[in-house]
Amino acid sequence: MRCRLGLKECPKNDAGILRCFPKIEQPFGMVIFGASGDLTKRKLVPALNRLFEAEILPERFFVLGAARTRMGDEEFRSRFNTQPDLLKRFSYTRVDYQNPDTFKSLKRVVDDLMKRFGVRNLIFYLSVPPDVYVPIIENLSKAGLNTETSRIVIEKPFGKDLKSARELEQVLQRSFGEHQIFRIDHYLGKETVQNILVFRFANFIFEEIWNNKFVDHVQITIAEGIGVEHRAGYFENTGLLRDIFQNHMLQILALITMEPPSSFNGESFRSERVKLLRSIRPFPVEDLENWIVRGQYGRGTVNGRVVPAYREEPGVSKNSSVETFVAMKLFIDNWRWSGVPFYLRAGKRLPKKVTEVAVVFKRIPHSIFPNVPSKDLEPNTIIFTIQPNEAISLEFQVKRPCPGMTPQLLSMDFRYEDYFGVKLPDAYERLLLDVILGDTTLFMRRDDLEVSWELLDPVLKAWESDPVRFEPHIYPSGTWGPKEADLLIERDGRRWRRP
Ligand SMILES: NC(=O)c1ccc[n+]([C@@H]2O[C@H](COP(=O)([O-])OP(=O)(O)OC[C@H]3O[C@@H](n4cnc5c(N)ncnc54)[C@H](OP(=O)(O)O)[C@@H]3O)[C@@H](O)[C@H]2O)c1
Repeated sequence: MRCRLGLKECPKNDAGILRCFPKIEQPFGMVIFGASGDLTKRKLVPALNRLFEAEILPERFFVLGAARTRMGDEEFRSRFNTQPDLLKRFSYTRVDYQNPDTFKSLKRVVDDLMKRFGVRNLIFYLSVPPDVYVPIIENLSKAGLNTETSRIVIEKPFGKDLKSARELEQVLQRSFGEHQIFRIDHYLGKETVQNILVFRFANFIFEEIWNNKFVDHVQITIAEGIGVEHRAGYFENTGLLRDIFQNHMLQILALITMEPPSSFNGESFRSERVKLLRSIRPFPVEDLENWIVRGQYGRGTVNGRVVPAYREEPGVSKNSSVETFVAMKLFIDNWRWSGVPFYLRAGKRLPKKVTEVAVVFKRIPHSIFPNVPSKDLEPNTIIFTIQPNEAISLEFQVKRPCPGMTPQLLSMDFRYEDYFGVKLPDAYERLLLDVILGDTTLFMRRDDLEVSWELLDPVLKAWESDPVRFEPHIYPSGTWGPKEADLLIERDGRRWRRP
């Protein structure tokens, strides 16, 4: 199969698969708010560097860092380990996000850079804590920087609940059109997440069995081995449900279960995704414990090292009841998925870092093999490993090479790196490229947010209104969460996979 450039294979070189993307012609300028911070250093600038090395970025572009920290251009440049030719295009200016006057100065700096680089298209990247999204957007607007040719990128979390998400949206929509707004959920930029779509919609044989006639249940796990690390301030105000479920988890669920869009263009794909999210059955608040389990990590041992409890971490309240683990069961009320349970779990300080989706098929109805009851035959399972070792596996039964007819489960694995021989690009490379190209397909739409908050808001309200009843269950660090999470699935005669 030839790609859009007519290539039969992805070129294998230093820049990996990015090398085959044509150079962008349209010049652009990117203003990064909060450019003194972690995301800029760890993700945004390395992604820009890879796009630059792959000769994808246009001849004319600039990057302007904007934050409260006092520093000059040279100090700003010295923070990054990138191509010198890229750094030449970097400069820095101080802004106070709350102060409209500093945005007037920002406009002068931006106008000057736009003239120097011959740029009309501006990208504003809000790489700051969510509390300052609103003042930045309002001040951009007051300074007249929200022109027709500008775009704005915002990072999760998009609000704290339905009300604050709506307020943020109102401010955004007053200043920018929907086609100018790029709400990043970086999971959608991952190759393996996008591959779920190719697997489902470029193959006939799987789509035919992708429904309640064949699928017994689906499990999604987003596990982290690490604890809260240096993000206690953020996490104490957020918790795991908002941090992982409102965005990454629901987006993965939607890609696994959505109907085929008529084409992979922005609106048709995004509309099917939202339609699916709308079909998720609301959680019964009166009986919430039987649907959602909250957990928080206690002390434990990870890789032979004794680690502190969440409440003992620096910056965390001694009696914090913030959840670091959530397991839930949900149903999708539509023709395709009616009756199929979805078990989702995510947490910190679990035994390892892994994100996987397991589509578990029904057991065979009757075993013809003596002494092997069908209940002992593990069902077929298709597993998408999204990180860290990106892969797709199919588990099926084979005959053991011995006298008799003894089945054994084995796994047929496709590993991205083994087959393509290239390092997969970081999600931010793909997403920044799409922002520069103005393609919103892989970004969340306003109604994505609305629907996901409508689903989770009643849960958060119930937790807040009765903290004693919903006190998180403590689980030892280095385990797969509290025993209540096991009961959630075992009550239904199933069990969690051990990824
Ligand atoms: N880091 C990640 O891996 C990651 C991943 C996904 C999403 N995100 C999201 O991306 C955004 C940026 O993340 P980050 O990790 O880069 O954040 P960060 O390092 O905590 O903050 C970025 C910059 O924002 C400014 N800032 C910090 N606290 C502030 C406050 N209370 N009020 C006003 N300004 C403040 C600081 O710059 P000045 O003091 O110089 O103004 C800081 O350098 C956040 O919304 C985060 O949730 C981050």
